[in-house]
Amino acid sequence: MAFVLIGFMGAGKTTLARELARELGSTAHDSDEQLERALGHSVAREFELAGEAAFRAREEELVCSLLAAAEADDVVALGGGSVLSERVRGELAGHRVVLLDVDAGTAWERVSADGEERPLARDRNAFAALLTSRTELYEQLADAVVPAAAGPAGAALARALRALTAAPDGARLLWAQAGSGEYPVLVAAGLLAAEDGAPAGRLWPLDRGDSRPFCVADQTVAELYASRLGPLAATIPVPPGEGSKTLAQAEVIWERLAAEGMTRADHLVALGGGVAGDLAGFCAATYQRGVPVVHVPTTVVAQVDSAYGGKTGVDLPQAKNYVGAYHQPAGVLVDPELLSSLPERELAAGWVEVLKTGLIAGGRLWERVAGGARWDQQTIIECVRTKLAVVAADERDGGPRQALNLGHTVGHAIETATGYSRYRHGEAVGLGLLAALRLSGQEELRTLVLGLLREQGLPVRLEGAAAEAVLAALGRDKKRLGDKVPFVLVSAPGDVQVGSEVAEEDVRAAVAELLS
Ligand SMILES: NC(=O)c1ccc[n+]([C@@H]2O[C@H](COP(=O)([O-])OP(=O)(O)OC[C@H]3O[C@@H](n4cnc5c(N)ncnc54)[C@H](O)[C@@H]3O)[C@@H](O)[C@H]2O)c1
Repeated sequence: MAFVLIGFMGAGKTTLARELARELGSTAHDSDEQLERALGHSVAREFELAGEAAFRAREEELVCSLLAAAEADDVVALGGGSVLSERVRGELAGHRVVLLDVDAGTAWERVSADGEERPLARDRNAFAALLTSRTELYEQLADAVVPAAAGPAGAALARALRALTAAPDGARLLWAQAGSGEYPVLVAAGLLAAEDGAPAGRLWPLDRGDSRPFCVADQTVAELYASRLGPLAATIPVPPGEGSKTLAQAEVIWERLAAEGMTRADHLVALGGGVAGDLAGFCAATYQRGVPVVHVPTTVVAQVDSAYGGKTGVDLPQAKNYVGAYHQPAGVLVDPELLSSLPERELAAGWVEVLKTGLIAGGRLWERVAGGARWDQQTIIECVRTKLAVVAADERDGGPRQALNLGHTVGHAIETATGYSRYRHGEAVGLGLLAALRLSGQEELRTLVLGLLREQGLPVRLEGAAAEAVLAALGRDKKRLGDKVPFVLVSAPGDVQVGSEVAEEDVRAAVAELLS
């Protein structure tokens, strides 16, 4: 089984193929280069002499024989249009396909700069339209998606691709990039199925070497799944629930890690939902000034949202997530089958993060969510891609990342005002989404979202807290800038504005409406 790099011109397939082959100790092949050698002139010249159809026929022949002859671990870079051929797509079946994902602006800059004559890159608008027309096909074919914006570390990507080949059929690898780090996200139903004792041992996205895994696990989850992680240096159970996201609990973990002799050469594994992930991530960020953490998320919230992006932390009695650090994971292993043991209420509450992500992403993901998608593997993957793209653009919440806070401003205030116990996080965020859509003046969308929340049996009315308590908690929101709490507002699915100022009486009215 070879690794086949697909993607638009200018994505950097040729360079990455060479780098990966070096890391994998295999051979790199480039279909465009081989074609030009066989033709005796450039692709552009062939377009002129024979036309595109004749070129595509030659390309199809060459690519099919290249794929048939490729050996295990070889890396094959394909010309951007070669996957338009059905025969070529058929030949991809026995290989792992890696999409090097590039946006039109970056691709145009690169092809304009390299001076090479490309027949399909003469007009910027036509170039962008061609990329749009191919995007869906590329994505359908891809087992792995790697952003082309910055060159991913070859060694780490090669390791992750090996993990992908060891993963069950249908596995997807997403490559996350943020200002302070890059990491693989491996998603597959059955990824952690305990078939041969310690399957996860083959899948760790880290070069484990002699790095020992210390696991911080939600207690309920530890009992169900810790044995599937392979041998662990220690497992530190954490009582389930938001009440564990405290400095006191972090201290228990730090001390236990120290007592067990964990060093900076070792790594943490965070097993559980957002609570275990935020807490373990915070301990990883701070223990000996930082050790790597691999997340193994087991709730919908964690699989679609909290395990990615590096926000870690604990709550204070005054407000949620008031103490924390940014600490990007070393990898995330996602097995949607682990969700099967979650109680219905947790599943529904977690789905609110799917709903929120759909509103932020718009397009295909919003259509899925509004059409009733819940937490199937494809929906999880699309949510993860949305979150990774937002974090790649703004790791530290300086601007675009604040979009992820949609519904959370009022949602967090509701959690605080109700003592973190009455509502699940997602339930509170669902109410917060209704408030945000009211503040956005989106009557129709609010009605639609209210219907979707009801369909999942989620609360659409606030109980157990007075408006004043919610407003007081809002005033302590850590994202407050001076006297103002900035809101995320929605113009339409896929079109959100961050940092919006809202009049106090409007916030009061939006909260009062939740109580009515
Ligand atoms: N860091 C971030 O970017 C980010 C983003 C969103 C939310 N969060 C945080 O996430 C937390 C909420 O996370 P959550 O909703 O995952 O809740 P959670 O971690 O409290 O888990 C919910 C419950 O499900 C149980 N559970 C977990 N996985 C299970 C499984 N597979 N089978 C059976 N039971 C299981 C747990 O024991 C717990 O009782 C909040 O603290 C929130 O602030 C963080």
